[in-house]
Amino acid sequence: MLLENKVVIISGCNSEIGMGWSAAIKCAEQGADLVVCDYTTDKLGQLVEKIEALGRRAIWVQADISIRGQVQQVVDQAIDAFGRIDVLINNAGIATDNGPFLECSEDMLDRNIAVNFKGAWYFCQAVIPHMRKQGGGAIVNNASLNATRPVAGWAPYTTSKMAMIGMSKSIALEFGVDNIRSNCIAPGPIRTELGLGGSRRVAEEMDIPFDEAVKLAEHANVLGRWGDPGEAADLMVYLASDMASFVTGSTIDVGGGFVAGL
Ligand SMILES: NC(=O)c1ccc[n+]([C@@H]2O[C@H](COP(=O)([O-])OP(=O)(O)OC[C@H]3O[C@@H](n4cnc5c(N)ncnc54)[C@H](O)[C@@H]3O)[C@@H](O)[C@H]2O)c1
Repeated sequence: MLLENKVVIISGCNSEIGMGWSAAIKCAEQGADLVVCDYTTDKLGQLVEKIEALGRRAIWVQADISIRGQVQQVVDQAIDAFGRIDVLINNAGIATDNGPFLECSEDMLDRNIAVNFKGAWYFCQAVIPHMRKQGGGAIVNNASLNATRPVAGWAPYTTSKMAMIGMSKSIALEFGVDNIRSNCIAPGPIRTELGLGGSRRVAEEMDIPFDEAVKLAEHANVLGRWGDPGEAADLMVYLASDMASFVTGSTIDVGGGFVAGL
């Protein structure tokens, strides 16, 4: 098993069709114990039951990751429950509050930065001292192809995810000496609530039916389809595991060969 007896924290796990949920199940299948969190929590108990049914331990914690104190509580509860943290998967994110650059308010920018970037930053600052003491760890950040290959109308999101990539590389540089690896995944269109929400916005803006907007995303990659959350979660598991022991400071695409973007 790739993550036998490792303790993994994952943010943004409350959607059954989300990448966080899928990553939690896949980590448990690979032998990990889990701390799953989200700011909405109605499904987290169910996720914990599924993980326990796989023979692993799990707890859930409510946390708005844009608030440093709530992130710290997740990490404290992880230590209380399991005594260590081997892997952090910064997955929670938002793709709302976007639009044409000149129409983006400061509030829209702040919201994207607060959740997509600072939430991950808070988690890294809270977790790294534990990983250091333990002799190492792995951080996996869910960025986006929208960072490295931006499309028009998403400047706050793109900016926040690019900041995440910068943070990830900085951590890889500073903590390689402590055997802590830090990498990003950069998903293309993945069929989740957030992903389909993006198509809903495109449909409104272009005044086209939702189905057509969904098809536009299919044409944006050479495989000609949306990705499954599990296809992105597999990459998270790989980067979290010792299979990726010589991989750090990287950003790996999981976008079916994205052909759109700049
Ligand atoms: N779906 C895509 O096409 C796509 C593409 C590239 C990157 N991503 C990134 O993947 C990650 C996972 O998203 P997903 O597509 O699986 O969708 P998702 O619908 O599962 O959304 C992410 C989760 O984050 C949670 N969340 C949002 N704000 C939060 C906050 N302040 N505190 C705590 N939790 C919060 C949500 O409740 C949700 O459960 C996100 O960071 C997203 O930006 C998604």
